[in-house]
Amino acid sequence: MKIKNICCLGAGYVGGPTMSVIALKCPEIKVTVVDLNESRIAAWNDENLDSLPVYEPRLAEVVGEARGRNLFFSTDVDTAIDAADMIFIAVNTPTKTYGEGKGMAADLKFVELCARQIARIAKNDKIIVEKSTLPVRTAETLQTILDSTGNGVKFEVLSNPEFLAEGTAIEDLFNADRVLIGGQQTPEGKEAIQSLVDIYAHWLKPEQILTTNVWSSELSKLTANSFLAQRISSINALSALCEVTEANVDEVANAIGTDSRIGPKFLKASVGFGGSCFQKDILNLVYLCRFFNLPEVADYWEQVIILNDYQKYRFAKKIISSLFNTVSDKKITFLGWAFKKDTNDTRESAAIYVAEHLIEDGAQIHVYDPKVPEAKIKADMRYLWELKGFTEQKIEAKLNQIYVYNDPKEALDQAHAVAVLTEWDEFKTYDWENIFIKMYKPAFVFDGRNILDAAKLTDIGFRVKGIGKG
Ligand code: NAI
Repeated sequence: MKIKNICCLGAGYVGGPTMSVIALKCPEIKVTVVDLNESRIAAWNDENLDSLPVYEPRLAEVVGEARGRNLFFSTDVDTAIDAADMIFIAVNTPTKTYGEGKGMAADLKFVELCARQIARIAKNDKIIVEKSTLPVRTAETLQTILDSTGNGVKFEVLSNPEFLAEGTAIEDLFNADRVLIGGQQTPEGKEAIQSLVDIYAHWLKPEQILTTNVWSSELSKLTANSFLAQRISSINALSALCEVTEANVDEVANAIGTDSRIGPKFLKASVGFGGSCFQKDILNLVYLCRFFNLPEVADYWEQVIILNDYQKYRFAKKIISSLFNTVSDKKITFLGWAFKKDTNDTRESAAIYVAEHLIEDGAQIHVYDPKVPEAKIKADMRYLWELKGFTEQKIEAKLNQIYVYNDPKEALDQAHAVAVLTEWDEFKTYDWENIFIKMYKPAFVFDGRNILDAAKLTDIGFRVKGIGKG
């Protein structure tokens, strides 16, 4: 089947960039990205390309070229579903915060709603593509819901998990290591797989497009994220040992990473991984393992999360102990709030948890991030404290301990300590001599990303503490 009209449900960090690239590379296909969130769609349609809801290098360029030609953003979900031959589901699948599987299982209510809406609206056969990250065997659930109307419309469900990384999304989409397409191994399933292969073949080589059965594809996404996060937790675990033995974790990482069997990527010790995916997807895997009565396997993967929580806590504790065992009423400046550089996404950012520990000890947290506004920072903290069941009064009091700046100089003026939470390149270029003059002494730098020149900062007079360095 030759696809002429695509609809994508969910205009977030995945739906937005992936559909923009498909539209750019396949000008003969009409691509409509829909979302229930009106302000998000308005931002995607904003004439000012700096106002797109997702910040990604080169995204504005891609949207600028395709939008209005064959790329459209809309809130009219029903019309877009009706017109499409192929529907991508790219809605959020957060960790459940209630009921059965709370804190572990993926919350599939948004995905289920999409399936019900598609079943209700569809009048002709359609291919449904799981783009969201889903527990293995979700395709079975979707198929059951889609087929439940009994109106004779046929649906083929494919799994096509997204492997892009925020901050490099466009580059990752243009030059994917691979795209993965899973489908039923029936003639109809194989035909559906081919329709999606044909789309990616507009810009990727055949060897970059892998096809599998639908369950392998679903499970591969959880596995990929678990392996990536496991590498970070492994090196972070070693960073704690480095700090008490005078080994240097960057040197250890380099020494092992040059072994071609290990490889150099994802071996950077840090304050801990964040982002909307790693934690949620590992928890999802852990939950599945418990569900299928594999407790040893569940415990193995859960340790990746436990270590990551330990690493964030360890960083906060180091700040407190270095500042003479209390940060009460001290100005601690956070450089960075996003979970990594080159994105405005803050979900599960290590900064949130480090801030929480320090605020608990009475600190005043002063934040500068080049892409994250005050409202988002405060909303992140509010969300965490609401989940903990804090009263409104307590939340307000704690929010008053957070100050957000548009200018890093102001954020750093008269600080007791600086903590680097995100590896934004610009932090390396700051005038650290001048910053030192304006800070309280002794002036501390806690480099949670090991990006600053520690020797140079020490020469200036800073007391520098990196990750995994004695
Ligand atoms: P997001 O939260 O940025 O976007 C999801 C969007 O779906 C929201 O704008 C929401 O309003 C919309 N939505 C929810 N229900 C809807 C419905 N019934 N109809 C229309 N729109 C609806 O989430 P994000 O980050 O784009 O993630 C989406 C999925 O992709 C998740 O399953 C995630 O695990 C996965 N993923 C995310 C990656 C990332 O880097 N963010 C990378 C790879 C996969």
